Amino acid sequence: MLNVKITGTGGYLPEKIVTNKDFESTLDTTDEWIYARTGIKQRHVIAKHETTSSMAEMAANNALEAANIDASEIDLIIVGTSSPDRVFPSTACILQHKLGAGNGPAFDVQAACSGFIYALGIAHQFIKSSGAKKALVIGAEANSRILDYTDRNTCVIFGDGAGAVVLEAADEPGILSTHMHADGQYQDLLYINNPIKDQRADGENSYMTMHGNDVYKVAVKTLSRIVDETLEANGLAKSDVDWLIPHQANIRIISSVAKKLKMPMERVILTIENQGNTSAASVPLALDLAVRDGRIKKGDMVLMEAFGGGFVWGSALVKM
Ligand code: COA
Repeated sequence: MLNVKITGTGGYLPEKIVTNKDFESTLDTTDEWIYARTGIKQRHVIAKHETTSSMAEMAANNALEAANIDASEIDLIIVGTSSPDRVFPSTACILQHKLGAGNGPAFDVQAACSGFIYALGIAHQFIKSSGAKKALVIGAEANSRILDYTDRNTCVIFGDGAGAVVLEAADEPGILSTHMHADGQYQDLLYINNPIKDQRADGENSYMTMHGNDVYKVAVKTLSRIVDETLEANGLAKSDVDWLIPHQANIRIISSVAKKLKMPMERVILTIENQGNTSAASVPLALDLAVRDGRIKKGDMVLMEAFGGGFVWGSALVKM
């Protein structure tokens, strides 16, 4: 049977850092409040000359180098993003040109904070059906460009960055399964209006709006369910998972899911304190960090999960 392996990972974070303290002069907030409620201390913010595709390019080049392959060998590019450079062409097309990748399909997946997991699931199926041999799957977000910096409910939570993986067709097991779900009834709890003026709801802007507390409750329930679904689909026990890589939305959500999985926090890869919530970039950035610092090793069983506006949620079980 044709398998799909992650053969390289990469990440990129913009140089500029905004700390919780920095918000104290412009917002009715405190470092203590933000840290206690979210686990976030700081986040990276994109520079004026940077874009989602430029961050994706840095992450992709890191991943290509780690996989030891040339961009010209890539025959599929999928970028998970909700903050693309342009409405069209896709960030993936722009990236393909920047990298000098092959002329295979390149497209974006818009699944909010689950964008990387969705992109990974699609690429997994694509390679399995022999539609491609070597793929780049990326989560990249310029969240700071879609935030209202007068809204303390949203702007303190999100950060910018990009994470990437190279996937290759392989003989040995790699991605064991991917799972994706959506429930559009929750569309008003977390959204951004269309930036095209004529298509916005009356009088509304096109910044992110989040009803955080309602999102929180559904996220905890849903993520616990998808962990069970993933393990059941593979006939595995909770104890078979070596590492949990959760979407980095809130340390309290992450701890609840880890507890359900009976996973000690030392086995959970965390970036939230230093990176905040980088939406679609958070899972691949955390994966890259743990691969590069040597925690995640070849053969380890890794469970990734994410949840975001839609609602959309998903998971991937991967033997590294
Ligand atoms: N600083 C100080 N106070 C703040 C604040 C801030 N940055 N942001 C909100 N508050 C206030 C609220 O206005 C509210 O005040 P009120 O009681 O006077 O109305 C109070 O704090 C409590 O707000 P609430 O939204 O109930 O807080 P919370 O404990 O739920 O924490 C979040 C807020 C956003 C951190 C939390 O709900 C969360 O993380 N939600 C999920 C986010 C998520 O998973 N997103 C999906 C994936 S992207």
